[in-house]
Amino acid sequence: MIRLIALLTVLLSMFSVNTANIAEQMAPDGYLMLVNRQYRLPAAYEPEDLVKPNVRHTSGSILMRKDAAKALELLFAAAKEEAGLTLYAHSGYRSYSTQQAIFQRKINEVKNIDKARLLVADPGASEHQLGLAMDVKGSQNGKLNAAFGKTKEGIWLAENAYRFGFIIRYKEEWTVITGYVYEPWHIRYVGVEHAAIIHELDIPFEEYIESLRLVCLGGNTEESAI
Ligand code: DAL
Ligand code: ZN
Repeated sequence: MIRLIALLTVLLSMFSVNTANIAEQMAPDGYLMLVNRQYRLPAAYEPEDLVKPNVRHTSGSILMRKDAAKALELLFAAAKEEAGLTLYAHSGYRSYSTQQAIFQRKINEVKNIDKARLLVADPGASEHQLGLAMDVKGSQNGKLNAAFGKTKEGIWLAENAYRFGFIIRYKEEWTVITGYVYEPWHIRYVGVEHAAIIHELDIPFEEYIESLRLVCLGGNTEESAI
């Protein structure tokens, strides 16, 4: 932990990150808002600046917050230009009630609530409700499964998403911390500087936020609880 804190301090300075407003960035509407089963969103939370990114997409709903949508457009364009890969947006912003329906559908499918919880967030616990997450496919009818991580598109996404402000939120080795199985398709917008640091540190967002609180807020953990 001490080594991580030291490294984070150096990286924050290297990337000239503005740490003065870090608590604000971790609060609702900030790009560093941590959402999981511990830090939940109220049912009524809905971001005000949702737009539809101008990217190839499946039949799913792909709204995102404005800055995240713009970053997604740049990410998809770079995949095409730099690697000749076509990415498809599949699922972006989801309201509390949509998440509830998806969660219920998963329970019905796997017939076990604990198993369902490993795959889908229960309502209020999904960062799709933030409008900062997107599920990405490698083709119109591509599958959201672990195999995506081994495809050209999945590998490119894992190696390059951070350049545009996104992190791979649920890596295979982080299940114990994140609570979810490997989701190579789920990217989360946090802004370019923080994405670069998280990519460099290669740690789950939970751990990053905890370290950031220690470095910038003296360990105050109240900021992102709402
Ligand atoms: N599948 C991710 C964890 C979600 O439902 O938000
Ligand atoms: Zn997702």
